[in-house]
Amino acid sequence: MSNIHPEFHRFLQRSDKQSLLKQQGLVIWMCGLSGSGKSTIANAAERVLHQQGRFTVILDGDNLRTGLNANLGFSDTDRLENIRRIAEVAKILVSQGIIVFVSAITPRGELRDLARGLIGDDLFEVYIKASYEACEKRDVKGLYAKAARGEIQHFTGKDGSFEPPANADLVIDTESTSVEDSAFELLEAIRDRIALA
Ligand code: ADX
Repeated sequence: MSNIHPEFHRFLQRSDKQSLLKQQGLVIWMCGLSGSGKSTIANAAERVLHQQGRFTVILDGDNLRTGLNANLGFSDTDRLENIRRIAEVAKILVSQGIIVFVSAITPRGELRDLARGLIGDDLFEVYIKASYEACEKRDVKGLYAKAARGEIQHFTGKDGSFEPPANADLVIDTESTSVEDSAFELLEAIRDRIALA
C-alpha cells in the first residue's frame, strides 16, 4: 500500500458526472433468498428508469459469478469476497453518478455491514422477502429440488445460513406483492431518496 498513490483529486469529480447525467447516483442493494425476486424486480425497475432517461446498471450475483467472481464458491470466506468485490464495483459506479442495482443474496449481517462500510450513505438496502418454502415452491432454477436431494452444499436457507436483515431501508414481501407493484414501490422509494431532475 505504501507505494500506491491514489490521485482521485485530479480526475473529473462525481458532481461533473452527475450534472452530465442529470441525476444523482445511488446503490440499491437488493438482498434475499435465491428465487425471492431480486433480479426480476431490479429488471422491472431498471426498465422504467431507463425509459425515463436515467443511466442505470444491474450488478447481478449470478451474472458476476460467470466473470469477475467466477473463482468464488459459497463458503463464508468466498461469499465475503464476493460481496466485497460487488460493493467495490458498485462504489466506483455510484461515484460516476450511476444508479446501481445490486442483486445478490447477501445472506448475513456481516456481509451487509461490509457493503455499507464500503459504500456508506449511497447505499439503499432493500430486503426482498420470501420464505424458504415460497422460494422452494417457485424453484425457477431447479436449485431447491437439487438442494433437497442433497446435491448442493452450503445452499442458502438450508445448510448455508440466512439472517433476515433487521435494518433494511425498504422491505418488499414478494409473497403478497406482484412484480409490477414491487417495482412501483421500489421506484417510489428511490424517488424519495434521490433527486431525479
Ligand atoms: S451471495 O450469497 O454470495 O450473495 P450470490 O447472489 O452471489 O450469492 O449468488 C447466488 C446465486 O448463485 C443463486 O441465485 C443461485 O442461482 C446460485 N447458487 C449456486 N449455489 C448456491 C448456493 N449454495 N447457495 C445459494 N445460491 C447458490
